[in-house]
Amino acid sequence: MNTSLQGKTAVIGGSTQGIGLAIAQELAALGATCILLARNEQSLQAVTAALPTPYQQTHSYQVADFAHPGQVKQVITAIVAVTPVHILINNTGGPPPGPITEATGEAFLAAFNQHIICNQLLVQAVIPGMKQAAYGRIINVISTSVRIPVKNLGVSNTIRGATASWAKTMSNELAAFGITVNNILPGYTKTQRLDSLIQSNAAKRNVAPAVIEEEMLKEIPAKRFGDAAELAAVAAFLASPAAAYVNGVSIPVDGGKTGTI
Ligand SMILES: NC(=O)c1ccc[n+]([C@@H]2O[C@H](COP(=O)([O-])OP(=O)(O)OC[C@H]3O[C@@H](n4cnc5c(N)ncnc54)[C@H](OP(=O)(O)O)[C@@H]3O)[C@@H](O)[C@H]2O)c1
Repeated sequence: MNTSLQGKTAVIGGSTQGIGLAIAQELAALGATCILLARNEQSLQAVTAALPTPYQQTHSYQVADFAHPGQVKQVITAIVAVTPVHILINNTGGPPPGPITEATGEAFLAAFNQHIICNQLLVQAVIPGMKQAAYGRIINVISTSVRIPVKNLGVSNTIRGATASWAKTMSNELAAFGITVNNILPGYTKTQRLDSLIQSNAAKRNVAPAVIEEEMLKEIPAKRFGDAAELAAVAAFLASPAAAYVNGVSIPVDGGKTGTI
């Protein structure tokens, strides 16, 4: 199976920690040259310097805040002016928790901008280079809420479904050019995002975080939270030549939690 990413350039959103960072580490280990995006420049500097370089790749980073699509567009335009991008990982921070009945219009608009509009701008910028290379892998980190809504994540559940529809539509239009568009649906994965959701639910119900954790673990057939590296392994496969005929799918990586076939 050909999983080599030598000679490929990857742009990875939200990659200073958690799932995005684990994906950058895996792609770099398989030979890709990585360009990391996030807001915190100090973290970007530190994690970029520590990425694997089996083929002496030169990894780099750009500061980009997905709350400001205009800034993201500027950044990706500057990147593609210098190098074609073969792999794009659409990933950023998740919307804040809360019941949908209390969500404001502004919260929906902010989430739409941060997820769908930024994804769209990034994809539009990388398409010409992918077409020319006849190789493109667009991978969106979404959530299992594409299949089953997660409690207390009203805005997030809404935007995740929309992102999956956007991705499927995009996959149909790009398939003939050797470009695939696929989604990874993380279940409960040990990252700072998961910690903050546990804390928020615990505070809301006035119980200890351990109580919330216990309840969450009961829902997972594997009886444990996922590791970001386990998500990254699936992303790396989808990014590789081996996955050329996998297109327009959503893959839950959730220890079996999603109760659908
Ligand atoms: N962990 C889970 O259990 C789980 C489950 C389902 C879905 N997800 C989703 O998967 C995605 C990644 O999750 P994670 O757990 O890895 O999250 P995380 O630990 O919170 O990491 C988020 C990453 O995105 C960056 N980021 C946040 N806001 C940004 C913005 N406005 N612009 C640019 N970069 C931004 C952060 O870096 P900076 O702060 O430096 O910008 C960080 O590198 C999220 O959308 C999350 O909701 C996670």
